[in-house]
Amino acid sequence: MVGVVGLGYVGLPLAVAFAEAGEQVVGVDINPRRIEDLRAGRSYIEDVPHEAIAACGHNLRATTRAADLALADAIILCVPTPLTPNREPDLSPLMDSASTLASILQPGQLVVLESTTYPGTTRERLLPVLEESGLVAGRDFHLAFSPERVDPGRTDYTLRTTPKIIGGLTEACLDAAENLYALVCDEVVRVSSPEAAEMSKLLENIFRSVNIALVNELAELADRMGLDIHEVVDAAATKPFGFMRFDPGPGMGGHCLPVDPFYLTWKAREYDFSTEFIELAGKVNQHAPYVSVERVERALNDLERPVRGSRIAVLGVSYKAGVGDIRESPALKIVARLAKLGADVVYHDDFVPSVPALGLQSVSLEDALQDADLAVIVTAHPDIDYRAVQEQLPVVDLRGVLRDRHASAQPARRLSPESISTAHAA
Ligand SMILES: NC(=O)c1ccc[n+]([C@@H]2O[C@H](COP(=O)([O-])OP(=O)(O)OC[C@H]3O[C@@H](n4cnc5c(N)ncnc54)[C@H](O)[C@@H]3O)[C@@H](O)[C@H]2O)c1
Repeated sequence: MVGVVGLGYVGLPLAVAFAEAGEQVVGVDINPRRIEDLRAGRSYIEDVPHEAIAACGHNLRATTRAADLALADAIILCVPTPLTPNREPDLSPLMDSASTLASILQPGQLVVLESTTYPGTTRERLLPVLEESGLVAGRDFHLAFSPERVDPGRTDYTLRTTPKIIGGLTEACLDAAENLYALVCDEVVRVSSPEAAEMSKLLENIFRSVNIALVNELAELADRMGLDIHEVVDAAATKPFGFMRFDPGPGMGGHCLPVDPFYLTWKAREYDFSTEFIELAGKVNQHAPYVSVERVERALNDLERPVRGSRIAVLGVSYKAGVGDIRESPALKIVARLAKLGADVVYHDDFVPSVPALGLQSVSLEDALQDADLAVIVTAHPDIDYRAVQEQLPVVDLRGVLRDRHASAQPARRLSPESISTAHAA
């Protein structure tokens, strides 16, 4: 039996994957509404269809009772790891779930942490709390870390086809983790310690954060130079080696990239080390929504309108296309700033029915565009005809979906010596 603690973006797909593989799964969450939904066969995560929950049948049992984990062979922790208001690691959900686990931990069980966190969390923070059970890690129970690599909305790589990194406290812990994940993953990658596994996840996220910041900074410069950054990125991406494409946008969002790198920044202080790239990337990415607001102001200026009193239709408020997650979404800053400047902001997003923090509810696309002075594409969800929107009113396109020019590699034309001399003459 497999236990999964925290049934969110990470935990629910994982629980379903084990249930689909024929395992008995007990899923535990402190949110009773989520448990009610799952018991009624309803999914609240886009990547998990309702039918998948129903298809799990008796293999997936959702509960708020952590005691039910006592019978599990392996227990996987997928609880949130946010930042405090002071941008320091907030391990309270992890510590709470670990204390609960300590009260029911059984000899022979495997505990795996999947939540993204700084190197040392499994050994320095999770282990001592679990050992309050009286059991000793590595001797009486197994302990490992395995980072989750889920990318919400992605369909080309799944849990099964994405290699799974594992780091165990001992070789036996590692073997136990490998046996567990071999049930649902084609490839398991063993590393030498939980710390190496914890750090590998942070490297992946920091790599993305830094590269997004780089392209966003260049986008701001290109804008001033009158260059189309999207055309530049398309052109650079024709290089078949040594370049990886990142697209500029209104800023970085989601639960991971704006948060996780700062876990490492915090830990680095213990080593008298300052993580410059992380700080700089964070600064550039946090500034990006304000650059977007400036573009809106300029577009209104061209229409000879002030922001105050203008009606602005924001299209898409989730942090990325195809998902309904608004955590750290740049749209929140953009809408709040425009509202503060006196704009009358409406939004349309089929994935996000309401944004309580802004006191706004999604309206139909038609209603959003009605009487609007300007539309702003913040997140380009599929199934919207943006060309049709552009025919109706001026649009600020923060995602580059309305451009005509695309650089693409073409077979070179061989020119004859005569045509070269003609070309030069011309
Ligand atoms: N969302 C992603 O794309 C993603 C990708 C990779 C890694 N991660 C990491 O995975 C972890 C979980 O992220 P998520 O996006 O699934 O979060 P989430 O907020 O979607 O889900 C977390 C769930 O844990 C539950 N929970 C909180 N405290 C609990 C407790 N003490 N006991 C039981 N349940 C509890 C919450 O009610 C919630 O349902 C985080 O560390 C995150 O950084 C997330």
